[in-house]
Amino acid sequence: MDMKQAMKERHMVRKYTDEPIPEDIVEKLNHRVRENNEQYGLSIKLMTNDDSAVPGVIKLILAKGVNNFFIMAGPDGADELCGYCGADLMLYAQTLGLNTWWVGGTYNRKGAQEKIEGAKPVGIIAVGYGQTQGVPHKTKTAEQVSSYDGESPQWFKNGIGIHHQR
Ligand SMILES: Cc1cc2nc3c(=O)[nH]c(=O)nc-3n(C[C@H](O)[C@H](O)[C@H](O)COP(=O)(O)O)c2cc1C
Repeated sequence: MDMKQAMKERHMVRKYTDEPIPEDIVEKLNHRVRENNEQYGLSIKLMTNDDSAVPGVIKLILAKGVNNFFIMAGPDGADELCGYCGADLMLYAQTLGLNTWWVGGTYNRKGAQEKIEGAKPVGIIAVGYGQTQGVPHKTKTAEQVSSYDGESPQWFKNGIGIHHQR
């Protein structure tokens, strides 16, 4: 599966099986994390076999089996870059057969801060083998989110996903 296919297939998944991520896949994820950190000056970190990403109350009602997660972190003002790199990591994980869940609100902030030195966590992304593949959420049409004077070029159509529209 390539990154474009991953865009179609990725949906939020909050419930995971207990299947651990194999070592070779963890190595691939870590490699991608290093590339993102080096290119954008971030401090993203992958934690595996660690169930401390979200508080107990969330695990009770919303989530299950969150045992691996990326801590999205960087210097002050790097929130947008963390979002960009988070999208890259989520899609890359999807190409490796994994599922993901971005958590910007209800994560264990203190725990994340303790694991990251000298940078500010902006959220975590849970990663693992989903109990399901999730469901597509409501999306807007290309016309609702964009306009182009004249005939739009192919790169524009690709970018806003006109090929997905009815
Ligand atoms: C930056 C960001 C922060 C998010 N924070 C939370 C959160 O705190 N709790 C939660 O349950 N989901 C959170 N989500 C997941 C969204 O609810 C989910 O991505 C959204 O419903 C769209 O679904 P999709 O990812 O399947 O397209 C977050 C997503 C993003 C991109």
